[in-house]
Amino acid sequence: MSVNVVVLENKAAVAKKAADMIEAQVKAKPASVLGFATGSTPEGCYAELAARCKAGKVSFKGVATFNLDEYLGLDGEHDQSYRYFMNDRLFNHIDIRPWNTNVLNGVAADPGFECLAFERKILACGGVDLWLLGIGNNGHIAFNEPGSAPDSRTRIVRLTESTIKANSDGRFFKNPLEVPHYALSAGIGTIREAREIVLLATGDGKADAVKAALKGPMSLDCPASLLQKHDNFTFICDKAAAAKIS
Ligand code: PGA
Repeated sequence: MSVNVVVLENKAAVAKKAADMIEAQVKAKPASVLGFATGSTPEGCYAELAARCKAGKVSFKGVATFNLDEYLGLDGEHDQSYRYFMNDRLFNHIDIRPWNTNVLNGVAADPGFECLAFERKILACGGVDLWLLGIGNNGHIAFNEPGSAPDSRTRIVRLTESTIKANSDGRFFKNPLEVPHYALSAGIGTIREAREIVLLATGDGKADAVKAALKGPMSLDCPASLLQKHDNFTFICDKAAAAKIS
């Protein structure tokens, strides 16, 4: 089945469309298992969901969540950790039960076991119904950098220089020396097992990655391209990110 590509006017429209899809999923199945991502791209979607929850339009009381990744060495109190990000941008503003939110623990005593336990918990919850993703400038999904295997599972990974640079441009870390070089990341195999995947891309900086993901061959050089054959995959872009695919 081919990828469902949706091109919208701007970032705000992308956020709204993604929130619509998540709201529909949760309404159809109140005990949904959702996969979430961090980064700048999904922030608008999280703000939408928080507003809709506050307005009583959607409830997350029965929902469980799994996040894609976490920096190795950062605990959840660190303001650049992905646990902190998720609490700050979404979980603290919706009615989800905190114990149903799963973010890998970057300071686990045994990070390898932490990865294994994460995989087992996804299985125990019945698998992920919908996983929201972003895409890196280099085509990465989660911290699966180019070269990651299509069947990779949650594991310790090394970040590329390009990712370290992208995450220290002032939006998150202020300088590259502060960025951890390792992370725990769900694998491409883990992500592909989600029953539905919704990938968001906004801004012209993503145009080359979007082109490689959608128009290029399925290749280890562009991890997002390895999702092309997923049978329920929606790729939502704004016009700037879609500039090279039309
Ligand atoms: P961004 O990151 O949303 O901050 O651009 C996306 C990613 O690296 O996956």
